[in-house]
Amino acid sequence: MAERKGEPRLEEKLFEVAKRRGFFYASNEIYGGLTGFYDYGSIGTLVKKNIENLWRRHFLSLGENFFEIEPSDVMPEPVFIASGHIKNFIDPSVRCKKEGIYYRADHIVGNAIKQNVEGKNAEELGNLIKEHKVRCPKCGGELGEVKVLNMMMPVRLGAEEDTLAFLRPETAQGVYVNFLRQFNIQRGRMPMGLAIIGKAFRNEISPRQLLIRQREFTQAELQIFFDPDKINEMEEKKWEEVSKYSINILSVGKGEAAKHTCKDLAEKMGIPKFYVYHMAKMQQFFIGALGLPEEKFRMRELSKEERAFYNKIHFDVEVYLESLGEFKEIGGVHYRTDHDLKGHGEISKKSHEIFFDGKRFIPHVLELSTGIDRTFYAVMELSYREPKEKRDWEWFAFAPGVAPFQFAVYPLVNKDGVPGPAEKAYVQLKERYAVVYDDSGSIGRRYARADEIGIPFSITADYDTLKDDSVTIRDRDTTEQIRVKIKDLEKEASRLLAKGH
Ligand code: GLY
Repeated sequence: MAERKGEPRLEEKLFEVAKRRGFFYASNEIYGGLTGFYDYGSIGTLVKKNIENLWRRHFLSLGENFFEIEPSDVMPEPVFIASGHIKNFIDPSVRCKKEGIYYRADHIVGNAIKQNVEGKNAEELGNLIKEHKVRCPKCGGELGEVKVLNMMMPVRLGAEEDTLAFLRPETAQGVYVNFLRQFNIQRGRMPMGLAIIGKAFRNEISPRQLLIRQREFTQAELQIFFDPDKINEMEEKKWEEVSKYSINILSVGKGEAAKHTCKDLAEKMGIPKFYVYHMAKMQQFFIGALGLPEEKFRMRELSKEERAFYNKIHFDVEVYLESLGEFKEIGGVHYRTDHDLKGHGEISKKSHEIFFDGKRFIPHVLELSTGIDRTFYAVMELSYREPKEKRDWEWFAFAPGVAPFQFAVYPLVNKDGVPGPAEKAYVQLKERYAVVYDDSGSIGRRYARADEIGIPFSITADYDTLKDDSVTIRDRDTTEQIRVKIKDLEKEASRLLAKGH
């Protein structure tokens, strides 16, 4: 999407329509907003819940012993001593001496010297600042010492505020502290899956890029507990599902991504089959269920230095976002080994060893993690269409399962008996689909309103309806219309949705 000089940038256009149509906007807006926090409006909430429900359906169906739980967001300090977050969940920060603004040191050094410096420690970043004479990107001022900052948000509980707890920085820990209880509830079977779709909190030094780097955000994470001895023994039937399926992979040390079949990833690149199978399932969620374009999608392997501290194998799920001019992480496939359960066993003094299949062991964990807000932003951007040709308004080409409503129903006019059949059509469809009824403004304005929130089909009752009991269905993407009898509407609706977009 080439932007003409003087035109707003894509990020600005998206934010403008997001605010105007109720997708999302700054939180606490009437008080000037709170940096790093956003609220979803009425339309955004529908879309977000659709994404979450698609996630639920896709990931919980990966195993018959997979369930969702909803633990609390606040967790006591020992949880994060056990998980390693107290010690390791830190970001390097640096302050501009002139303006006093804090920055992520790795971001400004990386941008200034055009190198990926993720994983470098404070001392190394400090040396790079000196060596390359890196200055404040805003005012050119001198930078101070690089310091490390723990990213968790503490809360002090009780009348004396003497109990230290934290807002969880990832949903995953909520699953791990429930492992022993759930293992019994789920009748001691492996593999076992536990998912949480919920909030996570991080005190980001420089929140930015709208929903991409926030301080409070929604994660959807599935933790799969399994016997590590079985990591290469995928059931033949399951492996056959994906063995010829290709994934776009950017391997460590490679400049460009390339397609590899799952078979090659396992046999030539030595990635465990259990892991590869779930990489495929991750890609299928973003491309199949959400309808993201395959050519914008890749999985990036992280080097030992870049990986999250708990991971043995780590691929980020990335999508190219033109508004940001780069690939952005929207999820990850993480082989966390027994890192977390072992830690919780040691700190809680409750053994996390289980007895299964004739032996005692601490299960290993494969985590499938999705950033819901980042995914939401990616879906919005990749569905965004500029005004052109048959319409002079912008619109969203959402997949029907993501769109806030699948159908809009209108009476052409609010008189002469035309609303009657429109209401009939609305009631008929409302039983099964998300439908909105709109009878205000010109029909052109109503189409525009529907397009701007990405409703795939608009149904209109007009004067002919009174004669032939049929309505028009307008296709959002082509703007073409077909005429259908009201009695056939449900059948036609299901055909159109199955056809997709
Ligand atoms: N639980 C993994 C992450 O927060 O990225």
